[in-house]
Parts: sequence; C-alpha cells; structure tokens
Amino acid sequence: MSMVEIPEKLINLLRTARSVAVLTGAGISAESGVPTFRGEEGLWKKFRAEELATVEAFMQNPQLVWEWYMYRREIINDVRPNPGHYALVDLENHFEDFTLITQNVDGLHRTAGSKKVLELHGNILCNKCFECGEPYEGEVEIKEGEIPRCDCGGRIRPDVVWFGELLPAAAISGALDASEKAELFFSIGTSALVHPAASMPMAAKRNGAYLVEINLDPTPLSEMADCVFHGKSGEILPLIVERLKE
Ligand code: OAD
Repeated sequence: MSMVEIPEKLINLLRTARSVAVLTGAGISAESGVPTFRGEEGLWKKFRAEELATVEAFMQNPQLVWEWYMYRREIINDVRPNPGHYALVDLENHFEDFTLITQNVDGLHRTAGSKKVLELHGNILCNKCFECGEPYEGEVEIKEGEIPRCDCGGRIRPDVVWFGELLPAAAISGALDASEKAELFFSIGTSALVHPAASMPMAAKRNGAYLVEINLDPTPLSEMADCVFHGKSGEILPLIVERLKE
C-alpha cells in the first residue's frame, strides 16, 4: 500500500486548507463488516434497498421492512469502526473547519470519535412514529407481525430516511454549506448514485474545491474528481493521515 502515490497538489492542500468536507457511504464501513447496498452482498433475501427502504414497502409489508432493519441492526451491534473511520477522526482534529457528511446510518463515525457528523439518512438505532413522527424510546420487538404503536396509534418505524422522503433539514443545509465552502472535499466509499447526498461533491467542485475520491470502483464522480484512489478506504485514509503528520 505504500505504493499509493499522493499528488503534490493534495499534499499542499493537506497542509494549507482551512475548510475540508467529507462525504462517506457504505464502503467506509465495509471493512468493519457492514454490507454495502449495491453489489452482490448488498442484497437481502433478493430484495434491493430501493424496494425495502420506502414508505410504500412499509405500508404494504411493515413486517418485511422491519425484518430487514432488525437484520441490519444485529450486524451493526457487533461491529467496530475500522482504520478508515479513525483516520477521519485524525483529519477532523487537524483542520480548523472540518465537516463529515455521511449517508451511513450505522453510527460508526461517532463511535470512532468524530464530532461534527451530519447524518443525512438518520440513524438505524433510533425509532419514530410512522404517523406523527415523534421519537419512540421503547424497545421494538416484532412478534407475529405486530408492530409496536405510538401513543397516537401510529406504527413505529426506524428513524431513517427512505427513498422519496425529505432529508433532515438541518443536516442537508449544513452539508450544502460545508460542501460549498470546502477547499478540499473527499468522497469516500459511496457509489454516488443517491441524491441529494451525491450532489455534495458536485457542489464542492463547482465552488472550486479540489475533489478526491476513494473507492474500490469507478463512480459517476470519478471523471470530475481531481484525484481518484482506487482501493480500500481503511488502507488509503491512514496513508493520507501519515503524509499529513510528516
Ligand atoms: P453503495 O452500496 O451504493 O456503494 C458503496 C460503494 O463503496 C461502492 O461504490 C463500492 O465500490 C465502495 N466500496 C466498497 N468497499 C469499499 C472499501 N473498503 N473502500 C472504499 N470503497 C469501498 O452505498 P452508498 O453510496 O452509501 O440509502 O449508498 C447510498 C444510499 O443508498 C444509502 O445511504 C442507502 C442506500 O440505499 C437509503 O437507504 C435511503
């Protein structure tokens, strides 16, 4: 991995940039053992995320949707952050103004110690009412298709953002502000297919940021990126941090 070449421009920016923003996706948690959404291992009982993470799916078959979230919660309860998450904590401590925007609902950035985290898609460990939106603190156990209910009578659902729903207003405006003022922007482990999250690196680039992508595979962002690292975020990010400390 020490063969990874870091362009001079990036090294200079790592030394001089004041405003840095990062967008992460499922790929940064892959090395912790959390399956990504796209690709073979992203399928659960042959369903794609787009078929399960919707209001329609919950209305039609709330038990199926809950089973998927319970399966994912079980995985997340057992995993730990990986060197990629910890490298982002180091980056946060290094820059004056650093914003971590994540599409992940696994909470691993906070567990690793990142402080300024904008969770665009919510947190899988939290619940709320499907009708009134009130947070629900009780235990959720799905027995014989019975979904727990809120005081208002509405069914309880995971407090995550589903396809077709609005993103939390504060998170999205904070993310856009951070992206637009970033001098350096990292897009890490995301297929960059789901908007508005995927618009953040584009907004950064439009506003003059140097755009770095770290991903195993090419994405729609790769062509516009100033620098693309093809590899694992848990290996490349620590190397970048190493350069920073030299
Ligand atoms: P995806 O599953 O779409 O993409 C994960 C990306 O990470 C892929 O491009 C992989 O090539 C890459 N990858 C995998 N392992 C990696 C590693 N170790 N290092 C670097 N890259 C790696 O996940 P997201 O882009 O996060 O939304 O998906 C976006 C949204 O779609 C999710 O937040 C979720 C999903 O459906 C909702 O449920 C609303």
